[in-house]
Amino acid sequence: MADLAARFGEIFGTAPAVRVVRGPGRVNLIGEHTDYNGGFVMPMALEASVRLALAPHDEPTIALWSEQFAERAEFALGGPPPAEVPHWVRYPMKVAEVLAEAGVKLGGFKAVVEGDVPVGSGLSSSAAYEVASALAFLLAAKPDLPAGSAEQAAAAHGLTTGKLALLCQSAEHRVGVRCGIMDQFISIHGRKAHAIVLDCRDLSYEAVPLPTGQAKVVIIDSGVRRKLTSGAYNERRRQCEEGAGRLRKFNPDVKELRDVSPDLFRAHESALPKVVRRRCRHVIMEDARVLESARALKAGDLDRFGRLMNESHDSLRDDYEVSGPELDLLVRTARGVPGVLGSRLTGAGFGGCTVTLARPEAVGLLREAILSRYEKETGLAPRIWVSEAADGAAIEV
Ligand code: GLA
Repeated sequence: MADLAARFGEIFGTAPAVRVVRGPGRVNLIGEHTDYNGGFVMPMALEASVRLALAPHDEPTIALWSEQFAERAEFALGGPPPAEVPHWVRYPMKVAEVLAEAGVKLGGFKAVVEGDVPVGSGLSSSAAYEVASALAFLLAAKPDLPAGSAEQAAAAHGLTTGKLALLCQSAEHRVGVRCGIMDQFISIHGRKAHAIVLDCRDLSYEAVPLPTGQAKVVIIDSGVRRKLTSGAYNERRRQCEEGAGRLRKFNPDVKELRDVSPDLFRAHESALPKVVRRRCRHVIMEDARVLESARALKAGDLDRFGRLMNESHDSLRDDYEVSGPELDLLVRTARGVPGVLGSRLTGAGFGGCTVTLARPEAVGLLREAILSRYEKETGLAPRIWVSEAADGAAIEV
């Protein structure tokens, strides 16, 4: 939306200085369900984002207006949580809670919230919202902060951006999903025209340039939204923890699946119950695929990168069991298009989006192939975007 600050005036009346903060969504190129196992991921931030236009006020309350839900809500800082709040208010509430616990002094504000990351589509609208909310709190507490990156806003409160990502992640845990660190981290650390290779154990990362002249990142929304996500997601996480626990008997250095090499896994996989074995195989091989993808990308070997994306999807479908007929259809259709290098589901799965790497000249054909087939076979209208990697969260105005 063009002028969110003007919208603030329409909703709340004029304020001396209306500021705007932004937290982007993300698409993960490869490395799925590895983050909460201490492993590797390769996401990029999107232009699509959640933004808040805000102005501090003197009361210790947060007054919010959601453009998406056309709904107003309010909560008190530090007070007992209100008995019932709309679901979308729980995110900033939990962010306020974790920031206060980390020693950030919070002040009240009014804000208009808007976003163009489709909700429940695997593009991390919730992380985008948490990160944008966190920036709003940091800014409201220090209204003199200039526009600029999340780094200076965090530093003004004695926080690193890594710590800020961890705080946003714990806010998500309190809302109910035991997610890993990927989404909040990339929303803060994204870099224009780059993917980020992140080590989710120590949060070290490297920005790798994406050769946009040679390949495009195409996101396709299946239109499938699953309500069961948090239950199935948390269950996968427990299965991984069980697998790591059992494999620890063979090597005491195994803290998480990240520590299990493909060789160690092959030597002892028969000690794992069948389902746990399949979950572990996915995670362990997926970590190896991320590292190999990073090498392929740096070497300009996009064919190899695409094949690794395909392997990732097949493993998510067969071993991790988080795909579905619609995502599989999108992936199969994409792979049948000449010039498509690789295609896979992205994010947690159970619906949501696929990500496809395609030669620029193949994008039109890909679009046609999806449009001519997907809706006919599923009754769902797909949405297709070509996406560039964007910068991470910032105070925009
Ligand atoms: C969701 C979670 C992430 C990650 C992915 C799967 O997006 O929020 O932490 O686990 O699923 O890779």
